Amino acid sequence: MKKVLLIGGSGYIGAVVAKYFLSLGLGVRILDNLLFDNEFSIRDLNKNENFNFLKGDLCNLEDLQKSIKDITDVIILAGIVGDPLSKKYPRESVEINYEGIKSCLNFFKNKNLNKVIFISTCSNYGLTNNDKLVDESFSLNPLSIYAKTKVDIEKFILDNNKNFDFSPIILRFATAFGLSPRMRFDLTINQFTNDLIQNKQLEVYDPDTWRPYCHVNDFATVLFKLLNLDDDTVRNQVFNVGSNENNFTKRQIVELISKKIKNKCIIKYIGDGPDKRDYKINFNKINKFIDHKMVSVSDGVDEIIECINKKKFEDAFTNKNKYGNYKINR
Ligand SMILES: NC(=O)c1ccc[n+]([C@@H]2O[C@H](COP(=O)([O-])OP(=O)(O)OC[C@H]3O[C@@H](n4cnc5c(N)ncnc54)[C@H](O)[C@@H]3O)[C@@H](O)[C@H]2O)c1
Repeated sequence: MKKVLLIGGSGYIGAVVAKYFLSLGLGVRILDNLLFDNEFSIRDLNKNENFNFLKGDLCNLEDLQKSIKDITDVIILAGIVGDPLSKKYPRESVEINYEGIKSCLNFFKNKNLNKVIFISTCSNYGLTNNDKLVDESFSLNPLSIYAKTKVDIEKFILDNNKNFDFSPIILRFATAFGLSPRMRFDLTINQFTNDLIQNKQLEVYDPDTWRPYCHVNDFATVLFKLLNLDDDTVRNQVFNVGSNENNFTKRQIVELISKKIKNKCIIKYIGDGPDKRDYKINFNKINKFIDHKMVSVSDGVDEIIECINKKKFEDAFTNKNKYGNYKINR
C-alpha cells in the first residue's frame, strides 16, 4: 500500500488531497507547521486509521526525519503561497520556499522513495506577451518572490536529477478554485463569487488579463493518477496542470458569476494594477498522460454559491485570516 507524505497538507489544496487519498485507501501522513492556525482543516481526518498528522517544519531536519518513516511517496505543497504573502514575508519565503525545500530534496535521497512531486505554479510564466496558449517549453518570466523561488527549485531539481534515487516530478498548477475545508477567499474565482454575493461590490484590477484555473478536486485526482504511473515514465517531467477550456480573463469570470446571481452589484474595473501577470496556458501534455475531465469554472462557481447561500461562510469578512493567506504565525 502507498503511504504518502503531504508536506503542507493542512492547506487549501492539501486538505482536499488528503481526504481524497484516504477515501481511496491510501495511507496519508501530513507534515505541516500550521502557519494559519489551520489545524481545523484536517481535524475530521484523525478518525481514519490510515492517517496521521505531525506538526512540524520542513526546514527542520528532525521533523523531516520523524515524518519519513514507512513513506513511499512525497508531495511538497508547503510554502509561503501567493504573490501578496511572499511580498509581505520575503525572508521567510526564501527560507521556506527555496532553502527549506532544497534541503528537503537532499534529505529525501536514499530513503527508498518512489516519487517526490514538487508543486510549482503557472505563475512562473508571469507575463507571456503571447496570444497563444503556451506550453511547458515556453520561457519562464517570474515576476514575484513567490514565483522566483518556485522557478529556482524547478531548476535545482532538473539540474540535480541524476543525484536523486527517487523519481522527481514538477507540477505547475493553474490558479485553484472550489471548496476546501481550509477555504481560501483570496483566490480569484472564490473571492469574486463571495464578494459579489455577500459584499455586493467588487474591485477588479486589469480585467482583461488572462489566467488558467483548476478545481481543487481535480488536483487531487491528477496527483492520485500520477502516483500510479510508472516511475520512469514521469521521472524529471514538468507538467502544467489545468485545462485549456479553463483559461479566462478576470472580466469573463466576473460576467460568468454575475449571470448566476440576482443581486445588483457595484463592479469597478481598474487599470494598471500592481499584479502584471497575464498568461494563457496549454495543458495538452498532462492530458496525454492522464485521462480526466476537469471541472468547469461554471460548475465550480455554482458549488461555491450554494455554500454561501447555506450561510457556511458568514464569518468570511470578519474572520479574514481564517479564509486566506494574509498573516502567518511563524
Ligand atoms: N492555491 C492556488 O491557487 C495554487 C496555484 C498554483 C500553485 N499552488 C501551489 O500549491 C501548493 C498548495 O497551495 P495552497 O493554496 O494549498 O496553499 P496554503 O497556503 O493554503 O497551504 C500551504 C500549507 O503549507 C504549510 N506550510 C507553510 N510553510 C511550512 C513549513 N515550513 N513547514 C511545514 N508546513 C508549512 C502551511 O501551514 C499551509 O498549511 C503551494 O505549493 C502553491 O504554491 C497553489
